[in-house]
Amino acid sequence: MLKISGLKAVVEGMEILKGIDLEVKPGEVHGIMGPNGSGKSTLARVLSGDPTYAVTGGEVDYCGQDLLAMAPDERARTGLFLAFQYPVEVPGVTIGNFLRTAFNSRREEELSAMEFYGLLLNKVRELGLADQWVNRYLNEGFSGGEKKRNEILQMMVLEPQLCILDETDSGLDVDALKIVSEGVNKMRSPERSIIIVTHYERLLEYIVPDKCHIMLEGRIVLSEDGIDLARRIDEQGYEHVKQQYAAQTQA
Ligand SMILES: Nc1ncnc2c1ncn2[C@@H]1O[C@H](COP(=O)(O)OP(=O)(O)O)[C@@H](O)[C@H]1O
Ligand SMILES: [Mg+2]
Repeated sequence: MLKISGLKAVVEGMEILKGIDLEVKPGEVHGIMGPNGSGKSTLARVLSGDPTYAVTGGEVDYCGQDLLAMAPDERARTGLFLAFQYPVEVPGVTIGNFLRTAFNSRREEELSAMEFYGLLLNKVRELGLADQWVNRYLNEGFSGGEKKRNEILQMMVLEPQLCILDETDSGLDVDALKIVSEGVNKMRSPERSIIIVTHYERLLEYIVPDKCHIMLEGRIVLSEDGIDLARRIDEQGYEHVKQQYAAQTQA
């Protein structure tokens, strides 16, 4: 599904990604953890094609295609989905209209408004939101938690092939976290891969990953199957990994 090799990226003359290697197979859920500033959001943004970041090295293979050569909208149309840490507000555009346009842009044949809203309302209710939700302007005046829930709604409607969720847990209370996690868990399928970026382990207890990675200073420095690595970080913090990594690079 996704194979990242030696990916490097620069912003404002500073190298933020210093050679990322990561392989995600179809059906897998991966957790990426790392302290603030380690480059997690930058990685997500580079994959989405954000022009703020200049790729200076490496390759990204997405389903046999050169992802870095694709325009951002092309990436989205082929099923790459990124839920942002800070979703943007789009006043004047309702969630319903926004999602209908996005949904139809990925289909050969458009769904009628009636059919689409039927589908949309089912997902809205699954996420514990009121029907009126679809008439609100995209992210305008939303609380942090509402924005996150709305990102998951988008994901459930658009059914992407590869989902990257950046700090989807931040701003969510325990109940919302459970609802959102259930939503993500329902999306798990043998054809879909999900990357969950978080600096807390808690979300990974709800959406148990197949693999966990630790990111430090622009590199993935540690990877393990299962959730144990995330649990150790939760107990011990990142300091242990940092020391281990520093010793490795000196040797
Ligand atoms: N658009 C940007 N302009 C300047 N610096 C940036 C920008 N994006 C990220 N950075 C810097 O890159 C580093 C990694 O940031 P980020 O990827 O957001 O880390 P994380 O998501 O792991 O907390 C930080 O030092 C941050 O200040
Ligand atoms: Mg971040």
